[in-house]
Amino acid sequence: MCGIIAYIGNRKTTDVLLKGLYALEYRGYDSAGVALSDSQTTKIIRSVGRVSELEEKIKKEGNFSSMYGIAHTRWATNGEANLQNAHPHKVGQVTLVHNGIIENADILRKNLEGCGYIFQSNTDSEVAAALLDSLLRESDTLTALTKMKEELTGSYAFAIMIENDSNLYAIRKDSPLLIGVGDKEFFLASDITAIIEYTNQYFLLEPTEIAVLAKEEYKVYEEKQIITKELLTSESSGIDQQKNGYDHYMLKEIMEEPKVLKNLIDRYQDQEKQQELDLSNYQKIDIVACGSAMYAGMIGQSLIEKYADIQVNVFSASEYRYKKKFYDCNTLIMLISQSGETADTIAAMREAKKDGIETLGIVNNPDSTIARECDRIILTEAGVEIAVATTKAYILQVCVLALMSYVTATKKNLFDLRAGMDDFIKIPSLLENVLENQDEYKRIAAQLQDKESCFYIGRGIDYAICLEGSLKLKEVSYIHSEAYQAGELKHGTISLVEQDMPILCVITEKELKEKSISNLKETEARGAKGIIITTTKLDDFNNYLKIVVPTTTELTQSILVVPALQLLSYYVALNRGCDIDKPKNLAKSVTVE
Ligand code: AGP
Repeated sequence: MCGIIAYIGNRKTTDVLLKGLYALEYRGYDSAGVALSDSQTTKIIRSVGRVSELEEKIKKEGNFSSMYGIAHTRWATNGEANLQNAHPHKVGQVTLVHNGIIENADILRKNLEGCGYIFQSNTDSEVAAALLDSLLRESDTLTALTKMKEELTGSYAFAIMIENDSNLYAIRKDSPLLIGVGDKEFFLASDITAIIEYTNQYFLLEPTEIAVLAKEEYKVYEEKQIITKELLTSESSGIDQQKNGYDHYMLKEIMEEPKVLKNLIDRYQDQEKQQELDLSNYQKIDIVACGSAMYAGMIGQSLIEKYADIQVNVFSASEYRYKKKFYDCNTLIMLISQSGETADTIAAMREAKKDGIETLGIVNNPDSTIARECDRIILTEAGVEIAVATTKAYILQVCVLALMSYVTATKKNLFDLRAGMDDFIKIPSLLENVLENQDEYKRIAAQLQDKESCFYIGRGIDYAICLEGSLKLKEVSYIHSEAYQAGELKHGTISLVEQDMPILCVITEKELKEKSISNLKETEARGAKGIIITTTKLDDFNNYLKIVVPTTTELTQSILVVPALQLLSYYVALNRGCDIDKPKNLAKSVTVE
């Protein structure tokens, strides 16, 4: 969601803050800002839009000698994306940046207005600044911060400066914030990638703690007592800011898929390592995730049920929390998350842990909350994904789930693993063929680029593929696309089918082919234009625009189909001149509920 970076030390503060903002920009890019302090005066520079615009403004403002500073990239939650709502916010002696949502901001605002505060923005963050300012009028800083934590409800990570005070302060609850420890320099950051070039030593703040960063030392307080925090070491290599010649990170990351897939499959050639994929102890699995991760989970559901004979349910994390739970000691809660920081997924994980149910995370970011807190963890190791639309991490999530299906099936003597692993080993090279087929995707993209809306339809696992293909198209090209169960369309929604509307029909399962074709024809009878996505074995489609991928088994077929749909979406977005790596309204990691 929003990104926070703060620094105190001997480097040029604006250099460190800007580098950190660029590294965090994928978390939100509606607006950005910095606050610099020499402990007496505070200078705030903010801009709407990208960090590069803020950098230009900072250059124009000229040099400002500062010993520390805080900075922020915003993904708007409370209040639209404009200059007055950009962070940092300064109220009285308090300047702060915030990630999260203060759920009682309205009542606090009213109370503070009653005390004479006049607000410049309609953000909850400015309310938090005013609250702290009011508390500082009657208490020392630690007491005021403690009271602030008591009065706020919701999620927050704050980096705070106070006038005539040469410390940086930090508190957090349910929003990520880590404290980086360098050599006589300290950092606050939403994630390690923002500071990894300076230090890989960090610790996390607990909701009960307050961090105080001074020029050459830091202290952490819990109930006004100084406590010692264990330093963690990150293995992150930071963000590879190079596009390696590709025009966009999204394209680069799609083209990396064969390599990262091979790394993952090679890892699980090892019989010992395969044990971590074994699900045979469970009688039921609830897969809980959001967005693309949930759609990967739906592919996993089909495969685990069919091959490993375990009942699987898939839930959107934002809904799972409210449903009656039927889990027990034989149930596994599986959390899938690229960032490992998605607030809804974290909430579901914590609820399951509170109920004593075992949790397993399939996560890409090893330094994330879900990676730290799950009982079992499978790291996809796709490398850092910079494009907001996930591609390589999603594919690895699907591959992990497919591998789990076979390893568990073998453990339960339901299938011969050797055949399965051979199936996986050939996937990376087959995927290279799929990714080379760019002319086909460009040809179809030309047919889609001017459309207002379209449907993706499929049955069984093909429907789960449609969900991800449709989401990719929506995310990067802004075409209104809807994935629909092919058999369900005729029960009402077919009323939306217009003349020449594209209907992308995914057919990878032989036994469902005829049914899906019938459903496609029902739309063509009403003027729609069918586009087929299928395999070499099933391809007998003439006079259709089509994407044909090499045939493998059901277990790995989706790993070849979805990248084709990712490239299709990429070229549609390219033709429409969209901002492919940072689509409007989106953020890479949704750390608010
Ligand atoms: C992916 O293209 C989407 N931007 C989004 O749906 C994403 O998958 C979802 O927000 C979950 O994120 P996570 O995997 O980091 O938990």
